[in-house]
Amino acid sequence: MADHHVNIDSLVKTYPGAQKPSVDLVSFSLPRGEMLALLGPSGCGKTTILRMIAGLVAPTSGAIRLDGRDISSIAVYKRNMGMVFQAYALFPHMTIAENISFGLEMRKVGKAERDERVNRALDLVKLTGLGNRKATQLSGGQQQRAAIARSLVIEPELLLLDEPLSNLDAKLRDEMRDEIREIQARTGVTAIFVTHDQDEALSMADRLAVMSNGKLEQIGTPREIFDRPQTDFVASFIGAGNFYTAKVVEPGLAIVEGLGPLRFVGDAPVRSTVRLMIRPHRLAVALGRAEGINCFAGTVEHVVYRGQILTLTVRSGNYRLQADLLTHAGILPEKGSEVTLSVAPQDVTFIGQVV
Ligand SMILES: Nc1ncnc2c1ncn2[C@@H]1O[C@H](COP(=O)(O)OP(=O)(O)O)[C@@H](O)[C@H]1O
Ligand SMILES: [Mg+2]
Repeated sequence: MADHHVNIDSLVKTYPGAQKPSVDLVSFSLPRGEMLALLGPSGCGKTTILRMIAGLVAPTSGAIRLDGRDISSIAVYKRNMGMVFQAYALFPHMTIAENISFGLEMRKVGKAERDERVNRALDLVKLTGLGNRKATQLSGGQQQRAAIARSLVIEPELLLLDEPLSNLDAKLRDEMRDEIREIQARTGVTAIFVTHDQDEALSMADRLAVMSNGKLEQIGTPREIFDRPQTDFVASFIGAGNFYTAKVVEPGLAIVEGLGPLRFVGDAPVRSTVRLMIRPHRLAVALGRAEGINCFAGTVEHVVYRGQILTLTVRSGNYRLQADLLTHAGILPEKGSEVTLSVAPQDVTFIGQVV
């Protein structure tokens, strides 16, 4: 535990008068310099966790430790957290430089050092030379960068970002993802950012903590969360999937009733019932009907053209399977086409045993 920079231990928050906790026994840790995404649908408790770490909401129980020291009873302003919110919350009557300088003035940093640190912060977020502008004279993206500069200039213990990109339009959001990631890497600040956007979490974070209903479902690297989800919730929240309940008949081979036998990689005892999932892009599509292991012949019921990919809905046995096909792959099945879908055993995700 000592090598963890941040340790959240059995954190609970039940708001006054609430029937059930908004944050329910959540525990996780971050090493120094990590960027963790708290990911989950609206209302699952992400902001509440962030606000407890910042000191804006008091936990019902549990501990928040920085370098092993419980900070639960330390006042907000002494925690030295850098916070960035969805609404940039810059002071509109102040210049950008004054906005960034504000936290330093509060900390009684002298004028010369303030100016130097503000300029460095402006450089860091690529707002060099714009310090004299008013917040209202900047674009949304620039305002969000100024808000990030303001939170970093105090050299915070932790950088906490709550849906920092959700007010920006799609193109700017993509640019800002890379920029925030780069700024975080360059400063080495430990960061937790909240988002409900799967792509954002996958592309920006070192690890993801996926939440549902106040509970932590799974924590892991983007690859682990996407390729080895441990619950149906995580598997379906992070991307599309074809889900099956199947009976294991021999090691690594299960029968999906109404579909067929499915080979998978995973440790499940013979005669157990398992949950399996296949991502749509893992299904290979061929024209015509063929038989074989992990092959499913069927009829295309529906085709959605999505630019780079074609999403097919294929009826096979008692099931409808979703398959994504690259549009430049050479075959273009249509509604009514006979096709065969196949998948490699290692691309069949073993979610877990059904108990
Ligand atoms: N100040 C509050 N008082 C009472 N309930 C709250 C308060 N803030 C949030 N909640 C409730 O707690 C739950 C989690 O909210 P929140 O942490 O904002 O979720 P998220 O950020 O994941 O959308 C929601 O059901 C919300 O209605
Ligand atoms: Mg929120």
